[in-house]
Amino acid sequence: MYKIISGKEVSEAVKLRVADEVKQLKANSIEPCLAVILVGDDPASRVYVNNKKKACEFCGIRSLEYVLPAETTQDELVALVEKLNEDKTVNGILCQLPLPKHLDEKTILNLIRPEKDVDAFHPENVGHIMIGDFNFLPCTPAGIMEMLRYEKIDLDGKNCVVIGRSNIVGKPMAMLMLKENATVTICHSRTKNLKEIVAGADVIVAAVGRPNFVTADMVKEGAVIIDVGINRMDDGKLCGDVDFDACKEKASYITPVPGGVGPMTIATLMQNTITATKIQAK
Ligand code: GUN
Repeated sequence: MYKIISGKEVSEAVKLRVADEVKQLKANSIEPCLAVILVGDDPASRVYVNNKKKACEFCGIRSLEYVLPAETTQDELVALVEKLNEDKTVNGILCQLPLPKHLDEKTILNLIRPEKDVDAFHPENVGHIMIGDFNFLPCTPAGIMEMLRYEKIDLDGKNCVVIGRSNIVGKPMAMLMLKENATVTICHSRTKNLKEIVAGADVIVAAVGRPNFVTADMVKEGAVIIDVGINRMDDGKLCGDVDFDACKEKASYITPVPGGVGPMTIATLMQNTITATKIQAK
């Protein structure tokens, strides 16, 4: 028998906790504020940014949205980030990725002040995560860890396999699982024997961006399956990286798409905004 881990349920719990913290901050005349920058008209990014705004409203966090045209120049974007860095009423800055190709993503991410970097993408924050001493954690991996804690899934000594090596999910995910004493393997497009490696996993985190990439023959009986994929199919439906219907029969726990990891990413962003606010209030 498998259990579905509801990201909706766990994220509600996190957001209620955040809303409570916001009330306390406001009672001390501190109003948390998150600025979100979106460049261009990628429909998926638009949906994410709308969901972030809604979550801010739920938690009582002030949100600023900067929607810039796809033709925005590097200088214009740099000027906006610099302005937000200087603005004392802004606690968190998030630049939605991917940026249009003509913009230099690395320069922009490195420009966001580490104490306002609620994505934890700045090299200084990445370094802190590597050492295991951090203020912020990247939203998706931290949201996944929160789900595992909520379900009391202990990672100590477990074989965890992360499929995907992105800076946003794969690499930091591996670090967080390692911190919990798991034995972690990162697989990617050049991995040989991927099937055999995944088949040995007690916990699988799929972050490849390919629909139904993880199939039931790769899954060990009783494995915990975390699906980070959000793939839009031709019929408009969302589909994860895991073949949910087949894999669930072998899993002990599994996350759905939608309603799994996605809402957790946003809940963690809310938490990170509060953390940033508290750091800046000191
Ligand atoms: N694009 C996809 N995921 C993310 C994320 O966590 N943060 C930002 N800034 N952009 C993203």
